[in-house]
Amino acid sequence: MQKAQAKAQAQAQAKAKAKAKAGRKRLPGLRKSDGYMLHPFDAENGVRTSGLVAGRNLKSGHRHDRYATAYYGVAPSVFHALVERWQRLRPVDAAQNFTFVDVGAGMGRALLLASEMRFREVLGVELNPTLVRIARRNLSAWRRQGRQRSQARVLCADATEWKYPLGPCVLFLFNPFGATVMRRLLVHVARDFASRPGELDLLYINNEQEGVLEGRRGFARLFLGKVRRSRADAAADRAILANQPDGEYASAPYEDCSIWRWVGNGPDGPHVGG
Ligand SMILES: C[S@@+](CC[C@H](N)C(=O)[O-])C[C@H]1O[C@@H](n2cnc3c(N)ncnc32)[C@H](O)[C@@H]1O
Repeated sequence: MQKAQAKAQAQAQAKAKAKAKAGRKRLPGLRKSDGYMLHPFDAENGVRTSGLVAGRNLKSGHRHDRYATAYYGVAPSVFHALVERWQRLRPVDAAQNFTFVDVGAGMGRALLLASEMRFREVLGVELNPTLVRIARRNLSAWRRQGRQRSQARVLCADATEWKYPLGPCVLFLFNPFGATVMRRLLVHVARDFASRPGELDLLYINNEQEGVLEGRRGFARLFLGKVRRSRADAAADRAILANQPDGEYASAPYEDCSIWRWVGNGPDGPHVGG
């Protein structure tokens, strides 16, 4: 009887161990056999934001999974160039009074960079729970290193179902999803910011869904153009993307970008504020 009990216990333990191991399994695209390469940003900063996870491998169980483009960390030089350009576009308030929201925060590379600047708060919204766990670890490492000038956190949520904070917000999008979710996001934020024209700016990198924004009332485009990667970032992205087994994604020396401002749907149509 005791022997049978011990055997059952050992089997249960082995099963739990196997389950835990399966839970820790890396997402496809984050294994050496998938062509994974460390980005210099991680090597230099002791964090984990490298890797390319195709959209089809970003499963969370949400109905929007099928519209996810991919996980890939933003080039730091493009991030800085676009944020600096935004700051020259006379936002409605000083940057330290804005909440920075990374829509589709992934492993948090953009959050880490934003938290080194002065914002009211830095928030990430990410649908995939595995990426959220990694982003949280990265934010803790950043805090320990004393790199944060703004409080930063990441929520596991869908970008179209979460209530955007009060006060001016700058939304950062590094091509997170396709047209359907982009349309839903714009409807959602137009509702949340209905009575707050000028308090919402959008920074859009690799702006594949630019046409969705162009077709919506209440948004004014302030910038459209190519933002170049630094030489080091271009070399890193080229090497990483050249290492993909199936060559699915391509790299260019620049990113197509845009900046938009929510100007509101006033009774006489959109008006330019800010
Ligand atoms: C290209 S990555 C950008 C990563 C990060 N913003 C950066 O710049 O380093 C896009 C991310 O958007 C996330 N995503 C896709 N659809 C989403 C949704 N509906 N809500 C929240 N996040 C989403 C993906 O899981 C992926 O991690």
